[in-house]
Amino acid sequence: MEIRCSTTTAGSWSGDALVVGLFSGGASQATEALLGQRFGESLSQQLERRRFKGKAGETVSFSLLSQQPSSVVLVGLGEPAGFNSEQLRQATASGIKAATAAAASSIGIAMPLEGFAPAAAATAMAEATRLIQFTDQRFKGESDPKTQASSIELLGLPEGALSEAAAAVSSTGAMCSGVELARELVAAPPNVVTPAALADTAARIAGDFGLELKVLERSDCEALGMGSYLAVAQGSDLPPKFIHLTYRPQGTAERRLVLVGKGLTFDSGGYNLKTAGSQIEMMKYDMGGSAAVLGAMRAIAELKPAGVEVHMIVAACENMISGGAIHPGAIVKASNGKTIEINNTDAEGRLTLADALVYACKLEPDAVVDLATLTGACVIALGEEIAGLWSPNDGLADALRHAAEVGGENLWRMPLRASYRAGLKSGLADMKNTGPRPGGSITAALFLQDFVNGEIPWAHLDIAGTVWSDKGRGLDPAGATGFGVRTLVNWVCAGGPA
Ligand code: BES
Ligand code: MN
Ligand code: ZN
Repeated sequence: MEIRCSTTTAGSWSGDALVVGLFSGGASQATEALLGQRFGESLSQQLERRRFKGKAGETVSFSLLSQQPSSVVLVGLGEPAGFNSEQLRQATASGIKAATAAAASSIGIAMPLEGFAPAAAATAMAEATRLIQFTDQRFKGESDPKTQASSIELLGLPEGALSEAAAAVSSTGAMCSGVELARELVAAPPNVVTPAALADTAARIAGDFGLELKVLERSDCEALGMGSYLAVAQGSDLPPKFIHLTYRPQGTAERRLVLVGKGLTFDSGGYNLKTAGSQIEMMKYDMGGSAAVLGAMRAIAELKPAGVEVHMIVAACENMISGGAIHPGAIVKASNGKTIEINNTDAEGRLTLADALVYACKLEPDAVVDLATLTGACVIALGEEIAGLWSPNDGLADALRHAAEVGGENLWRMPLRASYRAGLKSGLADMKNTGPRPGGSITAALFLQDFVNGEIPWAHLDIAGTVWSDKGRGLDPAGATGFGVRTLVNWVCAGGPA
């Protein structure tokens, strides 16, 4: 699919489907001005009849049969005052969805671009165009007859900004490839995306883009004293893979950043087995953090930002039951020497992240960010559209919130309330891995903090709610969302911590 920027307007474009954004209120007048001359008054009469009000998210499609374009899709934009780049992205996605449903292969998109920087507008529209059209046919014997557009034109860009807009569009390609990789990893079943498959994915990125890769096997992790991570892995027939992928910029690196992702390719709960209603059959997506960091590395490797060195760490494994699986009540020792009483084997993500964070901090980075489908409690707190953000560092938290906003992802900062750490007290070991149910996503974050060198800015993102969307929303088709990639890539490309 080709995405082009053009100065052509809605009035003169030709192709299969024309998508036009209209504000609410003056919808019919605007249509007349914009399209009346071209398609005749019948269009505005039809609009009236079909009660198109121009509310945000509203779409209406007209078939013009033998004309060129053969269909027109009108997308409501709501009030002009609230129209920002997020609205532009959402409206573009709705319009493209309606146009491809009508099997259009060439689509022109005309949105009101006054007040937007052309490059930012082009980025938002290009991202929406590509991400909404993503389909996953890998596991179907017969492919669905859903069509993808072959050419998209972003209309009405100012002549003087065309090359700048085109450059912005071409860099969205790398970002979208990263999001798509993350979606494919998350959606793939647990018998396909295994710890070894995650390591293979990292190897493919390393090979394609010239990154460095180190994969630590079980024995290597034993030698490093990673008793917490290995306790989770020990019940599985599949060997754990501790994956360390590195991007080094050309020239000198002023910053070193580490991205850590939870990589549970399946979470059965272990002996604290997940029961009916706990969505055990969805726990293939418990590697969503690792998918986000792999997707981000794929994008970063292609974008090649200057001045930042980026490390990705994934302690990949499965949480299974067997005679060799860890017992509830077992006490293990992490690679920083801390002992942990595992009072619940289903709080396994933090056990794997503990050793991953210790390893990350040994790299002496300027910042560490981890992403994890860590707690059901975070889903209860924030739902499926917002990920939780914990950080003791205001500058880092703000930089991440900004990067998320630019990318159209939603983060909400949550408290690292120190007094709740009491919930993790153990009579025998240095700590337990599970606190009380209330505030469960907070104690999980506090647990992680124990494995981070306090001098290194660190942030934790709980993406348990945002990793998957049953119905699809915004730019996300139903299923895996690829959440986190855009935030991470924007943050890294902006240079990391404030
Ligand atoms: N992977 C789950 C968290 C999860 C739950 C992700 C629902 C996505 C949707 C995690 O390993 C887990 O099981 N957490 C437990 C922790 C509890 C035992 C303290 C939870 O949230 O129930
Ligand atoms: Mn679990
Ligand atoms: Zn889990």
